[in-house]
Amino acid sequence: MKQPLRIAVTGAAGAISYTILFKIAAGELLGKDQPVILQLLEIPPAMKALNGVVMELIDCAFPLVAGISTHDNPEDGFKDVDVAFLIGARPRGPGMERADLLKENAKIFSGQGKALNNFASRQVRVLVVGNPANTNALIAGRNAPDLDPRQFTAMTRLDHNRAVGILANHLSAAPTDVENVIIWGNHSPTQYPDLHKATVKDLPALAQVDRTWYENDYIPTVAKRGAAIIDARGASSAASAAQAAIDHMRDWMLGSGGKVVSMAVPSDGSYGIASGVIYSYPVVCADGDYRVLQGVPVSDFSRGKMAETNHELVDERGAIVDLLPAETEVKFNAVSHPTA
Ligand code: NAD
Ligand code: LMR
Repeated sequence: MKQPLRIAVTGAAGAISYTILFKIAAGELLGKDQPVILQLLEIPPAMKALNGVVMELIDCAFPLVAGISTHDNPEDGFKDVDVAFLIGARPRGPGMERADLLKENAKIFSGQGKALNNFASRQVRVLVVGNPANTNALIAGRNAPDLDPRQFTAMTRLDHNRAVGILANHLSAAPTDVENVIIWGNHSPTQYPDLHKATVKDLPALAQVDRTWYENDYIPTVAKRGAAIIDARGASSAASAAQAAIDHMRDWMLGSGGKVVSMAVPSDGSYGIASGVIYSYPVVCADGDYRVLQGVPVSDFSRGKMAETNHELVDERGAIVDLLPAETEVKFNAVSHPTA
């Protein structure tokens, strides 16, 4: 049997965690032969609810769970962790944009970045889910100067999965028929779901859909899906977010099998994007790493959309600049990605 890996999950008593914890424990993240130790973080008022979640995890008698601990502070919670899902943050309500959460949630991620820097495994892989996810990941990474910025990523896999699912549904195809969809930019309404490289059943996707539908219906539907779910459910997406977080981290650790997936990662300036912002790119994952796909053709239409979402991320960075320690600037700007 393999040595257990330590998995931290913040917001462990929240809605997303109520799905993701049971998936991790069942082996959906790292496989049925990889034991895990769950290190669960919450804020003090939620510790009682978290204890209830722990009771349920115990009651599942998962063979792969080698230990569970609960923590109300990130210093203990991130001790030696190999993987960190940073989910704990306030969700938006109806009528809000994710960026409205910036000031409130941002300070959570500066403290958690420092704790990861000081206590996590030097190989820790971090996925930020809490919104606004891209800029929160920037804050966490910049507060962890002893770790590589590339260890900090944000989740646009939910947008990617939405883009695949909605296209497949429109064409009465299976999700597995859809390949090479790309989400560029921010996990926000400015994100750009790009179908120019996509295929469905090995044929160009854009040749199979109406251009007006693509521009006026599909793009806004994918980009605003989160708000539509809040409107319908009265609460933000939870099960689909948990599934996307599993997909993101599993592919990063075990490889995407040659497939292109979308991950928000520190920009190295590829495609004219501002260096250092956490921008969603097409990536291929292999050997425990991700590589930004280079050479994707960029039409004038695409360039405008990619620039718009880049500008939003630069503006968000400007709004939280006080949470970005200056001394890490050089290292962040020097980040470079292997290319695929
Ligand atoms: P939720 O309110 O059900 O749960 C959040 C939990 O986080 C709560 O239990 C809360 O006590 C806890 N928490 C708050 N501050 C914390 C801290 N400092 N340390 C540890 N725990 C803390 O919310 P949810 O539905 O699980 O969503 C969580 C976050 O994920 C929200 O910000 C939401 O907007 C975001 N989200 C992102 C995506 C994405 O695609 N990136 C998708 C869905 C939701
Ligand atoms: C989503 O995309 O479903 C989440 O980011 C939640 C939200 O606020 O939209």
